[in-house]
Amino acid sequence: MEVYEAIQTRLTVRQFKPDAVPDDVVMKLLRAGQWAPSSRNLQPWHFIVVRDRDMLKQIGAVATSGSFVADAPTAIAIAMDNADRAELDAGRALQQMELVAWDEGLGTCFVGLRVEEQNRKVKELLGIPEGMELITILPFGYRDEKLRRTRRPREALSGIAHDERFGQAYPEG
Ligand SMILES: Cc1cc2nc3c(=O)[nH]c(=O)nc-3n(C[C@H](O)[C@H](O)[C@H](O)COP(=O)(O)O)c2cc1C
Repeated sequence: MEVYEAIQTRLTVRQFKPDAVPDDVVMKLLRAGQWAPSSRNLQPWHFIVVRDRDMLKQIGAVATSGSFVADAPTAIAIAMDNADRAELDAGRALQQMELVAWDEGLGTCFVGLRVEEQNRKVKELLGIPEGMELITILPFGYRDEKLRRTRRPREALSGIAHDERFGQAYPEG
């Protein structure tokens, strides 16, 4: 799949087939994160692969915006260590993982863990050191093409793209 095709067709997926994701595919996702660019090339990330069913259930029970983690065969948590641009760096690694996952026939969903108490509990469950920042847990599994829904709409380009100066709509071709 071409990169542009993956970008255009990718959807957030919250229901997964129960099939295990093979080790080499998990490795591909990890490599996609490892090769992401980061501010000053500090690579301040840690990727925690979670496959233990009981752990996934516990995380799903804590994360109110990601209860479906409980039913995913695998998840990768991303924790940042002393990163000056933690969300940007983590976001770039994540997006690369998500596109590779899509190309592999998987579905993913970024779970934000923005409620402080929930974030702390998941950090504890995964043994992430206190000084690190847990950005997300990314559950993934094979996507069921039957459940594939249409893309969520996006703002018209004319409202967000500007030509030379802010306020001059970029002409949509
Ligand atoms: C920073 C960020 C946080 C998100 N947090 C959650 C979340 O906690 N739970 C969830 O179900 N989806 C979450 N999402 C997924 C978005 O809801 C989804 O990407 C958006 O609705 C667009 O849908 P699409 O990815 O299918 O195009 C998050 C996405 C981003 C980028």
